[in-house]
Amino acid sequence: MISSERISRRVRQLGRDISEVYANIDTPLVIVAILKGATVFAADLLRSLSIPAELEFVRAASYGGGTNSSGRVKIAHMVEGALEGRHVLLVEDIVDSGRTIDTILKRFRRMKPASLRVAALLDRPARREITVQIDFTGFVIPDRFVIGYGLDYAGLYRELPGIYALS
Ligand code: IMP
Ligand code: MG
Repeated sequence: MISSERISRRVRQLGRDISEVYANIDTPLVIVAILKGATVFAADLLRSLSIPAELEFVRAASYGGGTNSSGRVKIAHMVEGALEGRHVLLVEDIVDSGRTIDTILKRFRRMKPASLRVAALLDRPARREITVQIDFTGFVIPDRFVIGYGLDYAGLYRELPGIYALS
């Protein structure tokens, strides 16, 4: 669906856009990668930034082993340290129903960050159940389950350098 070359071009552009938006903040940007799928994207995005950034992780689980959301989102690991007064960018692999990002946003807002935005490599609007604002989007994709570049099916295929529709 999306070649590794297209992904790296897009990620570099997102890095430039994000660096511009946060050019004048006075503390390092806090990148929060959502485990596990967003780690590959976050690692490339981090290296496309021209501003200081810290890296944190949050773990949310909603999918189990299949290709349909169970509808429940659990936060299984939280960032270390306080986010109060910090500029926080959540980094997600794909926004599908919107439940994961919505749950994490609600939890993070309570921590009083100076700003809170979302960067998602993929946006699949066809299955959206909750309206969420995505501030930086890599690609809008059709209604197909995808794997590769960090995205898995039952824990597999994360190592693929491009993004593929699962057949
Ligand atoms: P949402 O909560 O329904 O928006 O689902 C988002 C989460 O489900 C993402 O963090 C992914 O881990 C997972 N997910 C959704 N769609 C796909 C897909 O097509 N491939 C792999 N993982 C997916
Ligand atoms: Mg995920």
